[in-house]
Amino acid sequence: MDKYDKLVESYSIQNKQSTDYVKLLSEYICPHIKTPAKILDNGCGAGICMYMFTKKFGKKATVEGIDINKKMIKEAKKFFKQAKVGNALKLNFKNKTFDYVFMSSLLVEIRGQEGKALKEAKRVLKPEGKLIILTTNHDSLLQALRNLGLKILGKYVEYPKQYTMKEMKTIVENSDFKILNSFYTDYTMGFFSGLGTKLSIPFLGKLSIIDKIFTKIPIINLLGRKMIIIAE
Ligand SMILES: C[S@@+](CC[C@H](N)C(=O)[O-])C[C@H]1O[C@@H](n2cnc3c(N)ncnc32)[C@H](O)[C@@H]1O
Repeated sequence: MDKYDKLVESYSIQNKQSTDYVKLLSEYICPHIKTPAKILDNGCGAGICMYMFTKKFGKKATVEGIDINKKMIKEAKKFFKQAKVGNALKLNFKNKTFDYVFMSSLLVEIRGQEGKALKEAKRVLKPEGKLIILTTNHDSLLQALRNLGLKILGKYVEYPKQYTMKEMKTIVENSDFKILNSFYTDYTMGFFSGLGTKLSIPFLGKLSIIDKIFTKIPIINLLGRKMIIIAE
């Protein structure tokens, strides 16, 4: 059984914690997108990032999503009819279709085949198109602490080993992409919202301000739970 069959609910747009979290993340991702834009959410899960893009850009962006897990797509389809079952290793789109290919925690699921997925991403991107990767930072102390918290609360889910920034950049560069921007983010916001503490919800807006400051301080920087890489 695919582990994601059991995770649909936590990835769903109907999960308030998840939507609150992507609303915060949106501030780090959406400014890198110029509209009008055609965006592919590659490995879209239950569509939470499709929600993030449509909420932010409305009609200025066309957002398509594919995921290999049928249950995730069934959930995503409740909100986006353009969510489809598909495989990142063999995308069912014509060459040069998208302005942006977005991957949130996808590559780590297909370790060893990242090059194949990135080649496919390159194929469906327009010549000026950009790849945006959002992924968990293996080196993050905060991520380690969060995992410990989740274990104590009995909410921990085992994920594959994550990438360091260096590993992720090497993979992207080896796949014929040029990195335009790379940074760490998510210091406090995912840390608290992900733990499911109701207490944290009223403070989420404030956490976003703290995170914006932390993103700019090199030493604290490494603690960031998430990494964002933008490439063309
Ligand atoms: C950690 S989840 C992230 C989901 C979504 N991107 C998000 O951020 O909420 C990883 C997703 O990748 C999907 N996935 C794994 N292998 C895939 C493949 N070869 N093609 C497309 N999706 C895949 C899984 O089914 C799962 O929904």
